[in-house]
Amino acid sequence: MKRIVTASLAAALALLPVSLVFARPLTYQLPDEASKFKDGPNLETAQNNCTACHSADYIRTQPPKKGQAFWAAEVNKMIKTYKAPIAESDVKAIVEYLDSTY
Ligand code: HEC
Repeated sequence: MKRIVTASLAAALALLPVSLVFARPLTYQLPDEASKFKDGPNLETAQNNCTACHSADYIRTQPPKKGQAFWAAEVNKMIKTYKAPIAESDVKAIVEYLDSTY
């Protein structure tokens, strides 16, 4: 038994340099920036409050130029329906960000 262990250990050590020679760095194609928040006024407030549960894709895929009332309703829905812990004092800044950016 001990001899088998020693033999396989020797084999593994013998193959180690071979695997190091053939090891190549991998390159990955990263996804585009679609899931990130676009730059805009109050970006940080929106990012801090809206990234806990889903990516910015949910916001980006809404029809464009819906206006403040639409975004206010959207933020309130997150708070009331989905229980997002968003401070009442942050709502205005988030709505401004969403309206002027998306
Ligand atoms: C507590 C978790 C949570 C937080 C925080 C949150 N959301 Fe959501 N959001 C959800 C859920 C759950 C859905 C619905 C997912 C589904 O239908 O698959 C959703 C869906 C959405 C949608 C898609 C349209 C819709 O009404 O379903 C938009 C737009 C959206 N959220 C915007 C926001 C914005 C803006 C913020 C920050 C103010 C935010 N979310 C923060 C949970 C959250």
